[in-house]
Amino acid sequence: MNLQTSYLGLNLKNPLIAASSGLTNSIKDIKEFEESGVGAIVIKSIFEEEIMAELNHSIAQTNRPGTLYPEIFDFFDIRDMEDSVSKYLKLIKEAKEAVSIPIIGSINCISGTEWPIFVERIQEAGADALELNMFILPSDLERSSGDFEKVYFDAIEEVKKVAKIPFALKISHYFSNLGQMIVKLSESGINGLVLFNRFYSPDIDIHKMEVVPANIYSNSDEITMPLRWIGMMSPKVKCDLSASTGVNDGEAVVKLLLAGAKTVQVASSFYKNGIKHATAMINFLEEWMKEKGYDNIEQFRGKLAAVGNNNPAAYERTQFMKHFAGK
Ligand SMILES: Cc1cc2nc3c(=O)[nH]c(=O)nc-3n(C[C@H](O)[C@H](O)[C@H](O)COP(=O)(O)O)c2cc1C
Repeated sequence: MNLQTSYLGLNLKNPLIAASSGLTNSIKDIKEFEESGVGAIVIKSIFEEEIMAELNHSIAQTNRPGTLYPEIFDFFDIRDMEDSVSKYLKLIKEAKEAVSIPIIGSINCISGTEWPIFVERIQEAGADALELNMFILPSDLERSSGDFEKVYFDAIEEVKKVAKIPFALKISHYFSNLGQMIVKLSESGINGLVLFNRFYSPDIDIHKMEVVPANIYSNSDEITMPLRWIGMMSPKVKCDLSASTGVNDGEAVVKLLLAGAKTVQVASSFYKNGIKHATAMINFLEEWMKEKGYDNIEQFRGKLAAVGNNNPAAYERTQFMKHFAGK
C-alpha cells in the first residue's frame, strides 16, 4: 500500500500532518509524532511581533535611528521576544536533526511588511517549507474588504523575494468573497493553501458575568467547513490544498482526501486523544483503501470534488429546504 503524497513539492510518506500547535513545540513531541507515523510536522508558530522585536533590537545595536515597530513594546517584554526568536530557530534546527520527516516552519503574521526577511533565517535553520498563518480580524470599520485582502498579497510578494523553500498560506474563512479569494491566492505564486485556521474565540459565562475563552478544541462537526470549500475549490485552484479544522479521526481524513485535499492537518484530536492517535488515523486510511481496492492516494483523491458528475449543488446548497419544508 502506497500512501505517499506530494505536498508543497515535498514527498510525504502519507497525507497526515501534525498541525501547528503547542504539541509541535518540543523535540520530545516532535519525535513522538514521527514514531506515530505522521507525514510531516508544522512547528508551532512564531509571532510577527516576536520577529519585529528582534529586528528592532538589531537596529538599536547598530545605532540606526528609530524603531521599525515601536507599538509592540506596549504589549510584550522585549527580552522574552528576542529570546523566542533564537529558541525558535534552534527548535527547527534540532527538529531537523531529530526526525527524518519534513519540518514546516510557521509564522503568525498580521501585516505584509518588514517581517518577511526573517524567512531567510528559517530557511537557514533547515526548514523544508514554511506556513504563513495570516489573520486580520475584519473588524476595523475604517478599512474596506479590499484593504484587508491587499495585506495578504503584499505579504506573499515580500516572502517570494526571499523564500527559496516552498510556502503555504493558512487562512480563515472570513472573506467577503471567499471562493474568489482562494482562487486568486492560489494563483499568486504560493505553493499551498491551508483551509482553514480556527481561532481562539470568546464566550460568555452567564454566572460569573465574564467574557471567557470558548472551546479551545474543535469537534468533529466542524469538518463541514473545510470539506465544503475544499470540495468546491480543489478543481479550481493552482496550488495544493491542505485541510484543517475538525479532523478527529481517520474517517475525516478519507473524506477530505475525497474532496480533493492533498494533506490533512490535525491539532485538537491529538490534544484530546494523544499523539499516538495518528497511528490509528493512518491505519484507518490504509484499511479503507484496501476495502475499496485502491493502492495509492491519487486513485481516489478529489473523486468527490464538485466537478463533473459529482453534483456541485451538493456542496453549494446552503438552505435545508427539505428538512424545513416537512415540519
Ligand atoms: C492549543 C492550540 C494552539 C495552536 N497554535 C497554533 C499556532 O501557533 N499556529 C497556527 O497556525 N495554528 C495554531 N493552532 C491551530 C491549529 O493548527 C489548527 O489549524 C486548528 O486548531 C484547527 O484544527 P483542529 O480542528 O485539528 O484543531 C493551534 C490550535 C490549538 C488547539
